[in-house]
Amino acid sequence: MIDRLWSRRGKTSPQEADLPLGDNVPQHVAIIMDGNGRWAQNRGLPRIAGHHSGMKAVKRVTKAADRIGVKYLTLYAFSTENWKRPKPEVDFLMRLPQEFLALELDELIENNVQVRMMGYRENLPSYTIDALEEAIHKTKNNTGLVLNFALNYGSRAEMADAVRSIAKEAADGRLNPDDIDEQLFSSRLLSSELPDPDLLIRTSGELRLSNFMLWQLAYSELWFTDVYWPAFTEELFQEAIMEYQRRARRFGGV
Ligand code: FPP
Repeated sequence: MIDRLWSRRGKTSPQEADLPLGDNVPQHVAIIMDGNGRWAQNRGLPRIAGHHSGMKAVKRVTKAADRIGVKYLTLYAFSTENWKRPKPEVDFLMRLPQEFLALELDELIENNVQVRMMGYRENLPSYTIDALEEAIHKTKNNTGLVLNFALNYGSRAEMADAVRSIAKEAADGRLNPDDIDEQLFSSRLLSSELPDPDLLIRTSGELRLSNFMLWQLAYSELWFTDVYWPAFTEELFQEAIMEYQRRARRFGGV
């Protein structure tokens, strides 16, 4: 009975009365959370203050996604290219999953959320991995929203790895090259347990994919906003969902 507790809280505001309903809620929403640094700089704050506020936006959007009935929420928290940032900033970003989960894991569990991670575990500090592994373990039987952190994730590396593993199997005679199809390739990606995103959101006005789920986003609807991630609200998330619901998806057909 604790399932979807968040869903039942505070349903009285006018915005919530307008919640998108029906069976056309995107099953999987992926978000490129951009603009933390600029949000902070505009306030005369260090960039890390933007990342910290970005963490609060993660909570807001997780709650909104759960309430609306999204099944999978994938958040791009750290790319394989983000290691190029100054070490203090990288160190701060690596502490965020631990801080977030220390604050929120109990509530995530209460709300039947399942935590997952998509990315390369190598190179991540042990405190980052340990916090995530604990959350993954404690929530693995939960059946509500899947909250998937893309951490140390890079789409080109993921695809190159998939090709390498498929090529090795073919070279060893364990796989017939004629059996290689889109489904097999998808099954070798880090996202193999997830459906492709239906909707991609990117904040901060940048209009690019930044090496994020390049294969999986082939037919996703894209939605952009100029708002920086720390300022992203439940209302904006809802607006993106409602725009998604107005679009006609054709997957290359008519
Ligand atoms: C991009 O903004 C953002 C990131 C590289 C980090 C995203 C991380 C979070 C929002 C927090 C994640 C929270 C958890 C719990 C894992 P930017 O720094 O590139 O911004 P800029 O383009 O304005 O410089």
